[in-house]
Amino acid sequence: MQNLSRAAHRSGRTITLVPTMGYLHEGHASLLREGRRRGDLLVLSIFVNPTQFGVGEDFEAYPRDLVRDRAVAESASVDVIFAPPAGEMYPASYQTYVDVERLTLPLCGANRPGHFRGVTTVVSKLFNIVQPDVALFGAKDYQQLAVIRRMVADLNMPVEVVGMPIVREDDGLALSSRNAYLSPEQRQAALCLSRSLRTAKGLYRAGERDVATLRDRVTAIIAAEPSTVADYIEFRNGDSLEEVGVADDRTLLALAVKIGTTRLIDNCLLGEE
Ligand code: PAF
Repeated sequence: MQNLSRAAHRSGRTITLVPTMGYLHEGHASLLREGRRRGDLLVLSIFVNPTQFGVGEDFEAYPRDLVRDRAVAESASVDVIFAPPAGEMYPASYQTYVDVERLTLPLCGANRPGHFRGVTTVVSKLFNIVQPDVALFGAKDYQQLAVIRRMVADLNMPVEVVGMPIVREDDGLALSSRNAYLSPEQRQAALCLSRSLRTAKGLYRAGERDVATLRDRVTAIIAAEPSTVADYIEFRNGDSLEEVGVADDRTLLALAVKIGTTRLIDNCLLGEE
């Protein structure tokens, strides 16, 4: 992969990378379409990264379907699929990690210790291997995108990071490979996430700025679904990820909710359309 990337750069071609863990859906397809537009060589990486899964999480169960992914990649005119075996990415001698500090402490970082260390490590490795000019990530993983932007700035990585909007089903459910775990009843219950975001945005648009009031409404919507348990319901500054008490346009509402054993995340900025 590195040789191929070097040759592409030598011949003056730009490289775009869409890093994924596979089991591609329309959200990934939207990244690939934008990636196709932004570079000459479009690389899709597919790697279920063991270092970003904690003990007892769904690494083994994470859905995988390389045959289907290849078909999605072909229809998005991907030039290269980079799908390395775990043993090549992390040989037995492996011992180097990349750690972003403050931004990884709250939200998913608090609930999934070590998760972002795994993400930033594998993304650094992918950047070194693929050498992209541009890399695209979805905004559903809002904190992941913020952490990757921080890492790229802090370590002077020569990559433009592009964040792409969340893609939703018609009924509001944010697309996620983990939606595959949901039963039809759980899928219905999962709509409480997008309903919460819509309600909070509506209240904000109507003039509500008190975060405690907004949080109470969201908590009630999620608690009304018997099969759900909220991991977090948080209102934070959309840039620093620090907690806020008074909402503004850049306030991030971030949710992580367990529906049965499936943990889903979703988010919005209160001021966004
Ligand atoms: O968002 C994902 O699919 C993963 O966290 C990423 C960025 C591909 C790193 O493994």
